Amino acid sequence: MKVRHIQDRDWNRIIEIQKQSYPVDLIESKGSLQAKEMTSTDTCFVVEIDNNIEGYLLAMPYTHGKSPSINSVEIFDKNSNNLHIHDFCISASHKKNGYGRKIIKDLISASSFKCFKSISVISVMKSQYFWESIGLSVVEPKEPQALSSYGNDAIYLSMKLT
Ligand SMILES: CC(C)(COP(=O)(O)OP(=O)(O)OC[C@H]1O[C@@H](n2cnc3c(N)ncnc32)[C@H](O)[C@@H]1OP(=O)(O)O)[C@@H](O)C(=O)NCCC(=O)NCCS
Repeated sequence: MKVRHIQDRDWNRIIEIQKQSYPVDLIESKGSLQAKEMTSTDTCFVVEIDNNIEGYLLAMPYTHGKSPSINSVEIFDKNSNNLHIHDFCISASHKKNGYGRKIIKDLISASSFKCFKSISVISVMKSQYFWESIGLSVVEPKEPQALSSYGNDAIYLSMKLT
């Protein structure tokens, strides 16, 4: 398994994995996904397993406690010391094999996350247990209404980085 930065040719596969991972309400346009990567190339990745792309992670600096609406193409706060994990997927055929937790734990200890004081995520589709198993915990968001576009079960979690 290898985690590397995103290249232009990766986007079709990223979109494919997104489609197999989320219900239609949570699907974002290619432009919206690419906006995150353009903001913060260093914190966005694809996951290769046996030389195929089997996952991706899009994360960008974003004010702690706040969150972008689904499908937004807004300009993010590049100076925030909180890294927001906007989207993380492992392909259907490789889920629940331990890849997801290993990837996040490795990235937390890697140099590209070192300049951030915390990480955050909005848990959807009952993935709260996954994030808690890595060390994130539920916190009150600054703008609870901003979570509404993520569905009724959306929960904001975060974790301090040392
Ligand atoms: C969430 C996701 C990235 C996790 O990746 P993964 O490789 O399947 O996770 P792991 O195999 O490392 O799982 C680690 C633990 O979390 C649990 N877990 C994994 N996915 C979970 C989920 N969606 N909900 C609840 N628990 C989950 C595993 O059972 C495992 O538990 P255990 O240690 O008690 O056995 C992956 O399931 C996925 O792509 N889901 C669809 C998209 C999604 O929901 N992304 C998160 C958006 S917030």
